Amino acid sequence: MKESQTDLIKNTPTDHKIHDLIKNRWSPRKFADTPVSDTDLQSLFEAGRWAASSNNMQPWNIVWGKKGSETYDRIHNVLVEFNQGWVKNAPVLMLGVYDKMTPDGKENFHALHDLGQFAANMSIQAQSMGIAVHQMAGLKHEEALKEFKFPDSYHVATGIVVGYYGGEMDDLPKDLQGEETKDRVRKKQDEFIFNGDYVKRAEVKPKNQ
Ligand SMILES: Cc1cc2nc3c(=O)[nH]c(=O)nc-3n(C[C@H](O)[C@H](O)[C@H](O)COP(=O)(O)O)c2cc1C
Repeated sequence: MKESQTDLIKNTPTDHKIHDLIKNRWSPRKFADTPVSDTDLQSLFEAGRWAASSNNMQPWNIVWGKKGSETYDRIHNVLVEFNQGWVKNAPVLMLGVYDKMTPDGKENFHALHDLGQFAANMSIQAQSMGIAVHQMAGLKHEEALKEFKFPDSYHVATGIVVGYYGGEMDDLPKDLQGEETKDRVRKKQDEFIFNGDYVKRAEVKPKNQ
């Protein structure tokens, strides 16, 4: 991240030491004017490309478009209204799509997991370049599938917004501006990490008891 952008790091109260690329990544809704070059995009896609996947099937597909292009507008059109409201200033929009079937016609239960790994790789690569990635489940999944001519066995899982950290608060709808400066929060590890049997969350005692 560039020096001038350090004010764009959110407070992330980690309980243990982690890499700065993970600690400082977050999902903004405003972006700097700086365009994301083809070279930048190729690096992001390349990072995704080298993600692990079940049986190395690589079931991921990405549709992308830069602001001002027809593809960008087509991706924008298949987002839900809430997301359309804030993404309009983002320099790049993408869709994350996966094939639900294996090449031999069986259901690939791991495909969504694998697309997630692609997106995670891409996010961390982006972070190393001062670029933010904001994923979105809020899209019109069926409409997107048809719009981009994917076969029925595919699922358009996510919208992905990509752009350099920065931008102006006024670019955002008023009700979303506060979200940009809020501390990041996470569940505590003992709510979801088990060194043995699963324990229902309600039965996990708060740390101070
Ligand atoms: C699969 C997925 C779907 C998401 N869907 C949306 C969405 O539709 N709209 C939105 O504004 N943010 C969306 N987010 C962003 C999350 O709200 C965000 O990642 C979460 O609050 C944690 O914040 P952080 O990424 O800044 O740590 C989504 C994130 C993921 C990974």
